[in-house]
Amino acid sequence: SRTYLVTGAASGIGLATTRRLRSHGHTVIGADLRDADISADLATAEGRTELAERAAELSGGRLDAVVACAGALALDPVTVRVNCFGAFATLENLRPLLAAGTRGRAVVVSSVAGVHATDPAIVEAVLLGDEAAAVAAARAAVDRGEGHLVYSSSKQAVSRWVRRTAVGAEWAGAGIPLNAIAPGTVLTPMIRPLLDDPALRAVVDTSVPMPLHGHAAADQVAPLVDWLTGPENTHVTGQIVYVDGGADAVLRGDAV
Ligand code: NAI
Repeated sequence: SRTYLVTGAASGIGLATTRRLRSHGHTVIGADLRDADISADLATAEGRTELAERAAELSGGRLDAVVACAGALALDPVTVRVNCFGAFATLENLRPLLAAGTRGRAVVVSSVAGVHATDPAIVEAVLLGDEAAAVAAARAAVDRGEGHLVYSSSKQAVSRWVRRTAVGAEWAGAGIPLNAIAPGTVLTPMIRPLLDDPALRAVVDTSVPMPLHGHAAADQVAPLVDWLTGPENTHVTGQIVYVDGGADAVLRGDAV
């Protein structure tokens, strides 16, 4: 059995992943704003430090896998803080624990929204690691009425960060696969308010077309996370694995 750290463990995809792993006999240390083993706000520097310190204590200094699921959809700069800098801090700060574990693996949850239109100023600031500039760019997008670009930009930045980071000395060089999953529309509390509004639901379904099986349940996404973070995954790294009912293939069929 393996020891996992899952952020966003109190709800949705993180909760479904936690339940699946525990049902297979693995130990899961859950982190979230509340209702988890570790309470930490990953939008803040203090919360990120708290996560790393508590994870080291609770795990005894060794983790076998990390799943960074915590995320926000708000049309607000906090979305960039959580989705990008919170996730990167989770992965970077826990990497030494993974290096001390057995067959360390990591997954971060991106989104098919990362292939939608973005604000390059947000994406570039994130990839430069400049949180203040990324937050300022997100605030500017909101102020000019383009708040919808904040989430897609945050997720495109996550996907690009994974491709760059996974091949470096600290990950591939240390034998640790690092991948993103990019879900389509998954029925969780995050998306529920959008789907409950007929006009917004139409926007969601047009921008994320899912010809295969339509909207997914969170427990239909968890098995992919399970495999990517399991010992059988020896050679998949730096990938953005779309679990989206075909949305990416519809939206960007010629991109391979
Ligand atoms: P959810 O809202 O059910 O779960 C997200 C969890 O993250 C919540 O428990 C929340 O408390 C936690 N979280 C939010 N802000 C946090 C913070 N500052 N610090 C610590 N924890 C925080 O949503 P869902 O759908 O399970 O989302 C999980 C991931 O999947 C997110 O990264 C989301 O962007 C991504 N995603 C979701 C899709 C969907 O259709 N539901 C589609 C594609 C990606």
